[in-house]
Amino acid sequence: MDYVPGMTTENSATPCTSEQHLRDVMVQRLIELGAARSPRVVAAFRSLPRHLAAPEVDIAKTYEPEFAAITKTDENGVDISSVSAPRVQAMQIEQADIQPGMRVLEIGSGGVNAAYVAEIVGDQGHVVTVDIDRDVTQRAADFVKATGYDRNITVLTADGEHGAPDHAPFDRIIVTVQAADIPPAWIHQLSEGGRLVVPLRMRGMTRTVAFVRDGERLVSDGFELCGFVPMQGAGENRVRLLLLHDIEGEEIGLRLDDHPEPDAEGLRAALHAPRVEAWSGVTVAGDESKEHLDLWLTTVFDNLPLLTAKPAARARGLVASISPLGIPTLVEGNSFAYRTVRPTDVPDRFELGVIGHGLCAQKIADRMVEQLQVWDREHRSHRAHIEIHPAGTPDDRLPAGRVIDRPHTRVAITWP
Ligand SMILES: C[S@@+](CC[C@H](N)C(=O)[O-])C[C@H]1O[C@@H](n2cnc3c(N)ncnc32)[C@H](O)[C@@H]1O
Repeated sequence: MDYVPGMTTENSATPCTSEQHLRDVMVQRLIELGAARSPRVVAAFRSLPRHLAAPEVDIAKTYEPEFAAITKTDENGVDISSVSAPRVQAMQIEQADIQPGMRVLEIGSGGVNAAYVAEIVGDQGHVVTVDIDRDVTQRAADFVKATGYDRNITVLTADGEHGAPDHAPFDRIIVTVQAADIPPAWIHQLSEGGRLVVPLRMRGMTRTVAFVRDGERLVSDGFELCGFVPMQGAGENRVRLLLLHDIEGEEIGLRLDDHPEPDAEGLRAALHAPRVEAWSGVTVAGDESKEHLDLWLTTVFDNLPLLTAKPAARARGLVASISPLGIPTLVEGNSFAYRTVRPTDVPDRFELGVIGHGLCAQKIADRMVEQLQVWDREHRSHRAHIEIHPAGTPDDRLPAGRVIDRPHTRVAITWP
């Protein structure tokens, strides 16, 4: 669908020429970020008036590549629905490799993402978007009607755990909500060779993974770190925060996923005891992502939750590093150690190291440093491979590596 420059949109006093300018600037940035790569994705992002999905938000904001418009929070203040950020939407749509004429299921609605996909599949294709929340599907339905995409989008209110059996099979399934597991419906409603793109949480960290169906198995074809709102309904499985330091504004905690129950009191005492440091000699650039290193650490260590801390805790020197996604932290009894960096003599290069606390701090910090070095020597230029097998698959039929057991699946992470 094309939006004619100069046309004005219903709820906006801003002429479409400036809306078009906002879209063009957004698209340019998405291309520079590597999020939008193919002509079809670029064209879809260039044409859709996405600001109509969040009329309460400043128009220019809705076209910022990293801006997610939060549309609902729960009683604890946790965000549970949003219109995802343009960069994340473009990245997932590219991962899905959507072609004209395809049938696509989206789990988690908002209207905007479904409309981009509908634009790409065209009139010969179809999009089904499912959300568990009636308020969200109402908003999404209003948006797709206002933009004319209701002709090839079906909006359903249901728990996406069960897919959309009446509309299956699908060539592509895009999940836009964080999942800790992959329910059988998503595999069985996907055509053989079809792609499932899902923000899969593995030991606390979420990566949107592109999987290809191969019989009962899914095989990864690339992944990207990301953040998404948590799953509700039958597949709900939230991470738990164990607070180690509970002073308002400078909280420090451990984000626990499927990790063993920690010695909370022991770890709290350790945090306030003097720390040890261990350094690896391995260096990284200032803007280098550590996502593959972190996946390596997840692969080799059993008990590696994520340290989270407020900026004030770092400013006070209580922790050496913070990241919104959490810092991998090796826990052993009442000791823990987390990765960090320090500047080197070379501008914009940092050395990887580990900070340890507790009685066994030095021992576990050294063990972690050893694995930083193994990653640098043997895996730095490789990418992990992720496979999903049905629960109950015997160990000897899984690839060697880290296995994460979930109710429906066994997630196997391996390295070349
Ligand atoms: C990030 S929002 C979706 C964004 C949307 N795809 C867009 O156009 O940007 C995630 C949505 O997932 C929904 N959700 C959570 N659990 C769900 C479930 N079990 N089944 C279907 N939808 C679910 C939430 O209600 C929320 O609206």
